[in-house]
Amino acid sequence: MNSTTLVPAWAGLVIAVAGSAACAGSSCAGETKTASPDAPALIHPEAWPLQTSPVGRSPVLEARLAQVLGRMSVEDKVAQIIQADIGSVTPEDVRRYRLGSILNGGNSAPEGDVRAPPEAWLALADAFWEASMDRSDGRVAIPIIWGTDAVHGHDVLGASVFPHNIGLGAAHDPDLVRDIGRATAREIRSTGIEWNFAPTLAVAQDDRWGRTYESYSEDPRVVAEYASAMVTGLQGAPGAPDFLGAERVLATPKHFMGDGGTAGGRDQGDNQASEEVYRDVHGAGYYPAIGSGAQSIMASFNSYRGRKLHGFRPMLNDVLVGRMGFDGFVVGDWNGHGQVEGCSPQNCPASLNAGVDMYMAPGTWKPLYENTLAAVRDGEIPVERLDQAVSRILRVKLRMGLFDAPKPSQRPLAGDFGTLASPEHKALSRRAVRSSLVLLKNNGGVLPLSPTARVLVAGDGADNIPKQAGGWTLSWQGTGNRNQHFPHGQSIYLGLREALAEHGGEAILSPDGTYSEAPDVAVVVYGEEPYAEFEGDRDNLDFGDERPGDILRRFHSAGIPTVSIFLSGRPLWVNPELNASDAFVAAWLPGDQGAGVADVLVAHPDGTPRHDFRGQLGFSWPAVAEGGGPKGPDDALFPFGYGLTYARTDRVTNVSEDSASERETDSSLVLVRRGDVPPEVRVVLADEGGARVLETPRGTSPRGHLATAPSDSVAQEDTRSFTWTGDAALSLVVAEPQDYEARAERGDMLRIQLEANGAQVGGTELGVSCEGQACEGFLDVTDALNGMLNQGFKTVTLSLACFAGAGANLSEVTAPFALRSRGPLSLRISAIEVVRGPPTPDCEL
Ligand code: BGC
Ligand code: BGC
Repeated sequence: MNSTTLVPAWAGLVIAVAGSAACAGSSCAGETKTASPDAPALIHPEAWPLQTSPVGRSPVLEARLAQVLGRMSVEDKVAQIIQADIGSVTPEDVRRYRLGSILNGGNSAPEGDVRAPPEAWLALADAFWEASMDRSDGRVAIPIIWGTDAVHGHDVLGASVFPHNIGLGAAHDPDLVRDIGRATAREIRSTGIEWNFAPTLAVAQDDRWGRTYESYSEDPRVVAEYASAMVTGLQGAPGAPDFLGAERVLATPKHFMGDGGTAGGRDQGDNQASEEVYRDVHGAGYYPAIGSGAQSIMASFNSYRGRKLHGFRPMLNDVLVGRMGFDGFVVGDWNGHGQVEGCSPQNCPASLNAGVDMYMAPGTWKPLYENTLAAVRDGEIPVERLDQAVSRILRVKLRMGLFDAPKPSQRPLAGDFGTLASPEHKALSRRAVRSSLVLLKNNGGVLPLSPTARVLVAGDGADNIPKQAGGWTLSWQGTGNRNQHFPHGQSIYLGLREALAEHGGEAILSPDGTYSEAPDVAVVVYGEEPYAEFEGDRDNLDFGDERPGDILRRFHSAGIPTVSIFLSGRPLWVNPELNASDAFVAAWLPGDQGAGVADVLVAHPDGTPRHDFRGQLGFSWPAVAEGGGPKGPDDALFPFGYGLTYARTDRVTNVSEDSASERETDSSLVLVRRGDVPPEVRVVLADEGGARVLETPRGTSPRGHLATAPSDSVAQEDTRSFTWTGDAALSLVVAEPQDYEARAERGDMLRIQLEANGAQVGGTELGVSCEGQACEGFLDVTDALNGMLNQGFKTVTLSLACFAGAGANLSEVTAPFALRSRGPLSLRISAIEVVRGPPTPDCEL
């Protein structure tokens, strides 16, 4: 699979000398590098890789910072570390209190109108900036900074609506992500805003979590690679002339840390992982993000082993600053400080003391200001800590050039609303849609569609841009929107209509699936309704109530080829829909460029695809509805990395529609799972020199024609390599003979997860054998293996009945799996199992 080429987040980091670049400035004295006395057992900072910030401290800038700081009163300082929401603060308030920052939460907008025109956003940015710069009372003027959630494009009417992160993860394309970051930065700047609360670096482990779609992948390697790409796209590259410049924005990796690993996938819940998993999985994105110059980080609502991150100094200070080399400022999440023990949204010295530098206090900013001021006066908040937080914020504002910038509307790109969903950005968004689609099934090659076909486009998602866009779109939950609120977008139906009209085909819209004249093919678009955050948490992964059931079945029984386009913020249990569809496309939440779907679905007039599918699952697809998703490739219906193309189409057989169990585990026979061979199974390697039973995972056949060793795919040693250099055979031998006759009769099949590498394979056979008697059954798999060469991991199945057909009595099989090859062959195998059917239609891999 693609991800095997990605490197772990912090591999190859130079182990830096403590106290170098990250702490070179004069105001570094307050930085504590030693472990905090509280909770020493939970976090061991010394076990976290040491990294330094790529953004150096300039003496000139530090001198200016010190000068500004020196002119600030304690009131100015406290105000500087508070961020209010534009729904609850006015420019007048800012003039009076001198707050350091404002945000617009998901439902906040100029005059409370989430569909306000871009002009209104820019005018409001000017008003707040002017208030912050007012010197009439003799106070020091510090430019305010405005943060927004542009998590899949700038969230303003008429802006680009890119696919949500889960779709980008399936695209496995960091360059695309970097380009989207750059485009988003430009669109944000056109409205006078400077700061984006993105990217989300959650490595979502439980798909029941309502924020799964904000996560690029369940695989930390994908998140790590994208973290750097998105931060660079938004901010520019450290050292480049436009780094943090006027056409870029401040990025905010979030939510630090472990939001994707809470128990049961509960939003704002408790991450109970071991410190290793916490670091290597959930921390994977932060090293590269900070290594790419991230200047602000958002603290997370979740806790780690019972400690709310907003009050957890070992992470916010000892790890983030001390080990990861973070040299920006930490912003809190929406009243997240209020969840710290002993705190309320109105009062929380503990959070500042633990390392949050700026409180996000949407509507609570005023009492929080008063209480924080009192805490500084009491000494509950040390002045040094206040100065440190203020310095970190000012340093970033200085690095961004905000002190020397004119008012927002006079900056480059400001007011240039043509940049919002510009033709270039639309093309980028459409490309992202094409790249993110994952083809799960395409039996009978129903896709691509002929451009002359009559296509019925059904389902409640067919002509529904809000449903394509999901949460965090114009409104927080993504609800209340209509197609007309996406002036530059088009629905999937419209995209198809356009593509088909070009060559004489036709798209007929029929959300309820009724028709008078049978179409050539039906495309049914359906999926989850929009949601955000905890509102999207669910108890299980059953697509459930929203299922289109009847529509699909009706087409199916009428013999009309049926294509499902599934819109969702996560993989869900959709076995009934899979069975009722000839083709099934996971489209995630593609945003507003429906034409990107048609690009891949509709062929050229000569039948060749205009674009092939490129998406591969960034999240493994569940085989059962309960639980939070597959724990590994063996539990998945479709494993991480799966995705068909027009060049490579595996036939997908019907799957169990019993949501409780996809297979009967009690009757299954495991020979290899996650690269591991159970103790009761022996690995035998044979060549002309005889047979050798291996005692360890590493070994060769007597003459050395076949060698095996553990190897890494998604996790450490989760697969085994087998390399043939000459005629040799691999057998997996069990102590208790297996009755393959009986198993074949009830429809059992052999399921193998493997990767074939190298050049042309010649003369390879797969089969079973019995000790001491002739019961061989072998099938030639040479062509099948050649067909999957160098394409990553594939899951292949074969009915046991196929072996019975090829050989003699199989009632006492001692080697339930054997593979012999006459010539060179290089395989990696992560799983071999015999599981309950359904039987494969033919006897080919
Ligand atoms: C979310 C953040 C978001 C913030 C501001 C919070 O509820 O968790 O991701 O940036 O609100 O809207
Ligand atoms: C969200 C905000 C949203 C608010 C609505 C928060 O949790 O993050 O962006 O506007 O709730 O109450």
